[in-house]
Amino acid sequence: MVVSDQLERLDRLPLRTNLRGLSPYGAPQLDVPILLNVNENTHGVPADVQAAITEAVAAAATGLNRYPDREFTELREALAEYLGHGLSPANIWAANGSNEVLQQILQAFGGPGRKALGFPPTYSMYPLLASGTDTEYVRGVRADDYGLDAASAAAQVRETGANIVFLCSPNNPTGTGLGLDVVEAVYEAGEASQAIVIVDEAYHEFAHDNTPSALTLLPGRERLIVSRTMSKAFALAGARLGYMAAAPEVTDAIRLVRLPYHLSAVTQATALAALSHREALMADVEDIKVQRDRIVTELLRMGLKPSASDSNYVFFGGLENPHGIWQGLLDAGVLIRDVGIPGHLRVTAGTERETTAFLEALEALLDGKTSQPA
Ligand SMILES: Cc1ncc(COP(=O)(O)O)c(C=O)c1O
Repeated sequence: MVVSDQLERLDRLPLRTNLRGLSPYGAPQLDVPILLNVNENTHGVPADVQAAITEAVAAAATGLNRYPDREFTELREALAEYLGHGLSPANIWAANGSNEVLQQILQAFGGPGRKALGFPPTYSMYPLLASGTDTEYVRGVRADDYGLDAASAAAQVRETGANIVFLCSPNNPTGTGLGLDVVEAVYEAGEASQAIVIVDEAYHEFAHDNTPSALTLLPGRERLIVSRTMSKAFALAGARLGYMAAAPEVTDAIRLVRLPYHLSAVTQATALAALSHREALMADVEDIKVQRDRIVTELLRMGLKPSASDSNYVFFGGLENPHGIWQGLLDAGVLIRDVGIPGHLRVTAGTERETTAFLEALEALLDGKTSQPA
């Protein structure tokens, strides 16, 4: 169905006013040999993790006539142990992907008459989660190089009187991490409006060594939330498990809006199995970082402008015809992401073979050895 038809049909429904004219999240899901477009873990689920999940899910299947542990206590214990930083299960909450965690935060702390501040370009779901909960989404500004410093971010929090602030670190799509000074300044600036400050660390495991996490800032800051996911480093995008760490009173607030038994027994068993077999997964993270750094080096050699990346993807500029390059790569069997920023594209780090295929196809297009569709 054509999109305009769809919008017209929607318009005839008694849809909430703030949802009229919106499009759903829709990164293309195409059948292409090399998928480097949605920042998944390209290295797959290691064999020992697959075996552990299979065994755990088989055991969970025997009890599926019963509702799962509503408090997912064992999983919260395992996540607290994984995160460290002196966190206990009372600090941990989880849901079906960090998207659901973020939605629950907005359900509890956003809503009509409240504002959520984000700093585009940033994760495209923030405005959609805001509209879904009838929260006003305020678009903050970044520097020309897409950086965000403490003084500017704090001033924008004060000016907008935001109730919720999204800080994405490393930021999607630019890939660069935020200094903790920005988080501290935003938190302080949010004192007047009692802003909930969310640091979305979906890609933290891919950061360069010694990059501190906002988890270090949690003690004494009861309005701070650090959100994480098993979709990226843990290669479990298909399992849907996101989580967060915060003060126990924040997790209690989320309990007011969660659906009962929202985390299935199958999901809990899967996540627990992966957490207890994480060695091979973390080795893959190291290889992904090598491929990511290789992409940055090679793009620089090709005369392009990649941003510094602390994540499993690289955002790069310097393209005259990004859409033509995107299409040319797709024709060569490599799907990457056009995030709609002039002159730029974003690519996920693949396996060594996938990364080589991407780099070779890109160089051929730039050299004019293969033609770029208009
Ligand atoms: C910055 C950021 N946050 C959150 C998510 C949501 O991930 P999930 O719902 O799979 O945990 C993504 C997914 O791409 C992301 O890029």
